[in-house]
Amino acid sequence: MMRQVTLAAAMMALAALAPAAGRAQTVKLGIVDSYSGPMAGVGEQLDRGIRLYMHQHEKDLPPGVKLEIIRRDDTGPNPAVAKRLAQELITRDHVQLLGGAIFTPNALAIAPLATEAKVPFIIMNAGTSMITTKSPYIARVSFTLWQSSYPLAEWAAKHGIKKVYSVVSDYGPGIDAEQAFTKGFTSNGGQMLGAVRVPLENPDFVPFLQRAKDAKPDAVFSFVPAGKQATALMKAFGDLGLRTAGIKLIGTGDITTDEELQNMGDVALGVTTMFHYSAAGDRPANVAFVRAYKAMFGQNQEPSFEVVGGYDGMAAIFHVIRAQHGKIDPDKTMALLKGWKDDASPRGPIYIDPETRDIVQNEYLRRVEKVNGQLENVEIETIPMVKDPWKVLNKAN
Ligand code: PHB
Repeated sequence: MMRQVTLAAAMMALAALAPAAGRAQTVKLGIVDSYSGPMAGVGEQLDRGIRLYMHQHEKDLPPGVKLEIIRRDDTGPNPAVAKRLAQELITRDHVQLLGGAIFTPNALAIAPLATEAKVPFIIMNAGTSMITTKSPYIARVSFTLWQSSYPLAEWAAKHGIKKVYSVVSDYGPGIDAEQAFTKGFTSNGGQMLGAVRVPLENPDFVPFLQRAKDAKPDAVFSFVPAGKQATALMKAFGDLGLRTAGIKLIGTGDITTDEELQNMGDVALGVTTMFHYSAAGDRPANVAFVRAYKAMFGQNQEPSFEVVGGYDGMAAIFHVIRAQHGKIDPDKTMALLKGWKDDASPRGPIYIDPETRDIVQNEYLRRVEKVNGQLENVEIETIPMVKDPWKVLNKAN
């Protein structure tokens, strides 16, 4: 009897020690990102953020804990594909965490699955405000369009811009950007001369910008998804002569996304945007980040905000893995994400608002300037620690 008890106790003690004694505890993370299709460049940026973080920090996982990342390609704004991939990641691959989501419709398609299966879903890009209200298992480390558009509108109204025409992509984040800008601008005495929404798929910006030009505004306000669409918008703005007609271009930082800026050319000079990240930011954490990024991906490469979304998303994921020693409990994970903060993100200090599970961060007013022959989003003002204004105004969690 005595011997049996001792043996049982010894076996239990051994089982508790097992991970440390070499049996690896593997955490599975499913990433749904846009690796192919016309928006593949944006998806690649996010993935580079994940890779850079892993390169620097894989060694910081607790002893015996491994992180397996399973990547799936949603091919662009394609909610049906995103939903199927997330379903497979949950039911077949048994992931304990989900991450990624460049596009709002894809994030919305995954949200109910995260709830049903209790799989925490860390949104690394998609920016429509209400996404976080769609599942208690969502936390967002990226941004919202209200976060940039609303303070930009307040700034514009106070800096001599009186009449604005809005040109946005016709889906969630574009509609948020248009509504946020309109509210911030008109409540500070500005006048909207008109607003058009451009199809997300195969957009031709020319007829929309022509309408904006004909209205003779002081400025065009715009949001389009970062990447090649931003470059196409900028080219159309130049080709149609809006700049030479004295019309300014202002918008969210998506329209002067850092990785495309050199491709846009001098038409981008002077474009003023509000955003949470610029590769030109001179914070020490960002200088080190940009240096590490260039060392890994090439000296002529600039990290965009999507890189930072992937990078900070991994920082949040490492936090929950480490705090739980690799044994992921969904509710404990969400409790750990609520209030998680990082004072040394490349974008400045960040934290996850425990009430909304959405990110709180600085917004920077930036202007495109030439520095040492290169176009840069030079930060000129900081609006500290902005909470998603849509949630503040609507008291929505
Ligand atoms: C989104 O779909 O939420 C989205 C995509 C690209 C961006 C910003 C937001 O640049």
